[in-house]
Amino acid sequence: MTVPPLVVGGLTIDPPLVLAPMAGICDRQYRLLMRRIGGVGLVSMEFISSEAVTRGIRPILRKMEFAQEERPLAIQIYGRDPARMADGAALVEELRPDVCDINMGCPANKVLQGCAGAALMGDLPRAARIIEACRRRLTIPLTVKFRLGLGKGEAPVNFLELGRICEDLGVAAVTLHARTAKQMFSGRAAWDEIRRLKESVSIPVIGNGDVTTPAGALEMLRATGCDAVMIGRAALTDPWIFRRTAALLAGREPVEATLEERREIILTHYAWILRDEEPREALHKMRVFTGWYTHGIPGGRRLRARIGALKEPRLFVEAVEEHFAALAGGAPEPVGAPERVDPPAPVDAPERVDAPAPVDAPAPVGAPERVDAPERVDAPAGRGVRQDGTRASA
Ligand SMILES: Cc1cc2nc3c(=O)[nH]c(=O)nc-3n(C[C@H](O)[C@H](O)[C@H](O)COP(=O)(O)O)c2cc1C
Repeated sequence: MTVPPLVVGGLTIDPPLVLAPMAGICDRQYRLLMRRIGGVGLVSMEFISSEAVTRGIRPILRKMEFAQEERPLAIQIYGRDPARMADGAALVEELRPDVCDINMGCPANKVLQGCAGAALMGDLPRAARIIEACRRRLTIPLTVKFRLGLGKGEAPVNFLELGRICEDLGVAAVTLHARTAKQMFSGRAAWDEIRRLKESVSIPVIGNGDVTTPAGALEMLRATGCDAVMIGRAALTDPWIFRRTAALLAGREPVEATLEERREIILTHYAWILRDEEPREALHKMRVFTGWYTHGIPGGRRLRARIGALKEPRLFVEAVEEHFAALAGGAPEPVGAPERVDPPAPVDAPERVDAPAPVDAPAPVGAPERVDAPERVDAPAGRGVRQDGTRASA
């Protein structure tokens, strides 16, 4: 099966594989890691509140910084007020990312109660005013990400209508996470509906929901006819999924990550966080990420337990190095329960505005050049916090 690149406005995205926006996860370090690993066509930033950005809240503005190496990159904004969203879009335009995306799919209570995110699917006239207002202020391509509908009310499923509105108003592409807002992340994503959307609009459709393997991505492309595949949660337990999927699309055999690559991603991610955040924050964040990254590593459960019990951030590297050294030395694998990984919290976490004070940390060897961002990156929103405010376990 030959899959052409995704063309969004004047932008070519090749391969047609998109890293999903994930609040509390898709910060600069994570996006850069995905780029370094390769295979991803477009990376998305975690969503940004148009209220916060237009009020000039500094930690939120910092969150929008990115490096050239991340391109092509989409910045996603959300909000309920057309004028404020338009001002937010104008600020996004000034930063010159490759795409500006509007979130009309977030089911988080905090966002819904503010009548933003998926709530806009319950008020399509307002959704249209927002799209139109943003479109006028942008020269870069505008995309919109939405769900099947609210899943309740008069029009529980109205994605086809919203898709047509997007097309009529000059949106360059739409992304469908094929669940209702009410479903949150439960049940299976309804890929058939992605096909229906593709058949009813002439702009590109990015399919999203439950792709967990390269073969799954290919299957979504084949079954729905969508123009690109967006992957979210699977990129946490398998950060190499884009590289392997890109290989499959190119007709090559996907190659699994080696143990050395797994070790490297953990240590590199930690080192990059340390450049911007104080060590305790970095350790906290890496507890969450190693909960995912250690998936499939022999003794992963043991390593997670050790990292979870660390009292001092300086012991993190040692713990990781010792584990991988033991694996390389052929240490016997302790018999125990089969490997289990908690799914990432299905969160569109609230924006954090209280950034911790920056602490000087040595730049790690081989860290990416910081082109656009002279300052530290803000701490991740929510840090693995669920929509109901509870902490995600790693
Ligand atoms: C932790 C987390 C945070 C998310 N944050 C956002 C967000 O900021 N904006 C957005 O449009 N979707 C967000 N989503 C939804 C994802 O972009 C994606 O639509 C969803 O996870 C389904 O794709 P998947 O099955 O590949 O994970 C988030 C999902 C998760 C798990």
